[in-house]
Amino acid sequence: MNLVLMGLPGAGKGTQAEKIVEKYNIPHISTGDMFRAAIKDGTELGLQAKSFMDKGELVPDEVTIGIVRERLSKDDCNQGFLLDGFPRTVPQAEALEAILTDLEKKIDFVINIEVDSAILLERLTGRRICKDCGATYHLVFNPPSQEGTCDKCGGELYQRADDNAETVGTRLQVNIEQSKPLLDFYQEKGYLRNIDGQQEINKVFGDVEELLGGLK
Ligand code: AP5
Ligand code: ZN
Repeated sequence: MNLVLMGLPGAGKGTQAEKIVEKYNIPHISTGDMFRAAIKDGTELGLQAKSFMDKGELVPDEVTIGIVRERLSKDDCNQGFLLDGFPRTVPQAEALEAILTDLEKKIDFVINIEVDSAILLERLTGRRICKDCGATYHLVFNPPSQEGTCDKCGGELYQRADDNAETVGTRLQVNIEQSKPLLDFYQEKGYLRNIDGQQEINKVFGDVEELLGGLK
């Protein structure tokens, strides 16, 4: 099961990815998570990524493609993988095709979570994440049972550095511009499957399960 998860910032990629990797037992490869981990560890990659992420801009293709190539070459991707937030530009998509050809793999589906951009600002500014296990919540749409505390592990919840109103505006603008040619690219290849991301979280996952059921 080789999957790509697409959608604008806040569409619900991370939320659905959590459920997909748990059910289908494939590695979750999120370029955003990889950059955030590198920033936390103070590595060279983190330094390169930070200035772009703080502004809500995309990290340059060369940097991003390099880390994905390295990650997809690891053995745990032999049973499948879920790419989340990559590719985000047509050059990244073209590079992914070349990487997968080298590895003798092929994408099964590109799952595009569709959400009207007007509601994404509220989704992003209200998001809270567990410091310990990474679970995602929302102050209004998916609140934890106890404020500020993770239901799954009891960890403390925090707000991502790029989830302030100003940076979110840039992120949405940048991603809206890039997504149209990328969707056309995958539509032409026949990989694209659109899912309505404005339903309740478990309903969105139900649609994902229905789609993936056809693969098993
Ligand atoms: P990344 O970490 O990938 O962030 P993003 O694309 O902006 O997406 P998000 O993680 O913000 O949103 P999501 O779709 O996962 O939403 P979530 O499920 O959390 O990238 C961050 C940065 O890294 C980029 O800006 C860029 O600088 C850099 N980067 C990463 N990849 C790159 C690449 N390939 N190339 C270049 N640069 C790259 O949901 C959001 C909120 O909504 C949550 O609170 C959730 O609880 C809630 N929610 C989810 N689903 C629903 C629903 N159905 N109904 C109601 N609420 C919902
Ligand atoms: Zn937790």
